Amino acid sequence: WGFFRWSWRLLYLSAIGGLVYTGWQIHVSKYPTDQEDPDPRKKTLVVLGTGWGSVSLLKKLDTENYNVIVVSPRNYFLFTPLLPSCTTGTIEHRSIMEPVRNFLRHKKATVKFYEAEATKIDYEKKIVYISDDSEVKGTVSRTEVPFDMLVVGVGAENATFGIPGVRENASFLKEVGDAQQIRKRIMDCCETAIFKDQSPEEKRRLLHMVVVGGGPTGVEFAGELQDFFENDLRKWMPELQNNFHVTLVEALPNVLPMFSKNLIDYTEQTFKEETIEIRTKTMVKNVAETYIEAEYTDASGKKVLEKIPYGLLVWATGNAVRPVVKDLMNQIPAQKDSRRGLLVNEYLVVKGSEDIWAVGDCAIANYAPTAQVASQEGAFLARLFNQMAKTEEIEGELSLLSDEQAKAPNQEARDGIFGQIKDLQKRLRRVKQMGPFEYSHQGSLAYIGSEKAVADISWLTGNLATGGQLTYLFWRSAYLSMCFSTRNRVLVITDWIKAKMFGRDVSRE
Ligand code: FAD
Ligand code: NAI
Repeated sequence: WGFFRWSWRLLYLSAIGGLVYTGWQIHVSKYPTDQEDPDPRKKTLVVLGTGWGSVSLLKKLDTENYNVIVVSPRNYFLFTPLLPSCTTGTIEHRSIMEPVRNFLRHKKATVKFYEAEATKIDYEKKIVYISDDSEVKGTVSRTEVPFDMLVVGVGAENATFGIPGVRENASFLKEVGDAQQIRKRIMDCCETAIFKDQSPEEKRRLLHMVVVGGGPTGVEFAGELQDFFENDLRKWMPELQNNFHVTLVEALPNVLPMFSKNLIDYTEQTFKEETIEIRTKTMVKNVAETYIEAEYTDASGKKVLEKIPYGLLVWATGNAVRPVVKDLMNQIPAQKDSRRGLLVNEYLVVKGSEDIWAVGDCAIANYAPTAQVASQEGAFLARLFNQMAKTEEIEGELSLLSDEQAKAPNQEARDGIFGQIKDLQKRLRRVKQMGPFEYSHQGSLAYIGSEKAVADISWLTGNLATGGQLTYLFWRSAYLSMCFSTRNRVLVITDWIKAKMFGRDVSRE
């Protein structure tokens, strides 16, 4: 009994501790302190983008060392790992968005933010041209921002490999707007399928949800969609019967190629049980308004082009280089052989350039384009820039001391200054001791539907590959702890509880 009493007390204390901590975080976030004004003598650091890489940099950067300007068409950070859950309403999109103003306002020195797209980076002139592409435009909607230092963190765009009809007919899953569009389209397909006198064939087409790309985006979305049907749509719209059908099309021999073999098998088996059809070794070649044309090799070795009708088509075939990045690559001879993005060195400097760094999906540093990599790169750059500022400060002090030493009236005074110089030189050596960027892989996680997840986790010296419902609990707690702010965490938990208690919302906005 003593043990149970103590366990309860411990639990009680941790709950109170958790509540006090959450309350404190909320209080701190609501009341920012005054900020230092920009100092024109300091260097101008321009950061492009408000995604994983740039925001991780901004979070850890000592902004008082530079005049920091952020340019992005999105005035918020998006927690992409939970974006697939927004397509079905398991989570509301605003729960995973964090306004950049919320955290920039807490930095020690003011950070300027311009909601705009960088349309061109002039490498020689050190100017970024920006354009306000939002609905409301003032008399000035295009201008230029000069920089001393530039960080390119603009991410990537959706790859279509030039396949005809993709951009016109498919939905992507990268931005909040994409998730909203998919959510709307799912409900539209369902309501149209049960429209009076709809033919059985048309009903089957409208309820055929096709996902192209068996990477983690495609797999997680397919899992979420099937959950939506099983838990909610089937109940509220019994007329759909068993016509609702999810198909995942993948060109390679299996889905989730970056996961361990046993987790790939586990995912494929789970999909079979969930009645999600996987079409591997099938390459989509053309997309029309109501069907896709996909090529596969039949048992006799002959290539067959099959027409697959769909109601909703979600295209998740990875990343492509953004035009502004392509244009910058064209200006720098050392980048001419790169196809997938900006080649960077071990300090994330864009190869062949000076004072330009790149982070995240737009940078090519031999790592997968993931949030994990982008955020570690951003944090590394913040440390690097903080260190560079400290180095400059110490070097300035050293040069002042050297002048003083030269003018010192006697040997005693010179010796005193010499001691100070020695100390500063020691500090300088310590500060300058910063190694190159090293990525530390924490593991990969993916949701696969019916409250199951797969995880490849780096564990001490080895790798732990696990899948199932416990892994799903781990997936939830890991992503919850990684959410940007306490506010996001509270909203996400509330959404999960809401979806569990009342079901997902099936209204079409
Ligand atoms: P992004 O986060 O894409 O940010 C780019 C920023 O640049 C945005 O703010 C954008 O608005 C801005 N921008 C774009 N063009 C311009 C321009 N011309 N000028 C200025 N700004 C511009 N990775 C994981 O590790 N784990 C996961 O679970 C995971 N889940 C994912 C789920 C989904 C649905 C998706 C799509 C991706 C997921 N990823 C995950 C991958 C991860 O989101 C990316 O690798 C990560 O976002 C890359 O960060 P980034 O900063 O390079 O780019
Ligand atoms: P991806 O590049 O990982 O996968 C795309 C898939 O589409 C590939 O397997 C490819 O073979 C297939 N494909 C390409 N063209 C095709 C065609 N014409 N027909 C059929 N299949 C085709 O892309 P994804 O899933 O968008 O991920 C992008 C990045 O984001 C990756 O680095 C991924 O690791 C990361 N990510 C990580 C997540 C996680 O860790 N849970 C979740 C989502 C994304």
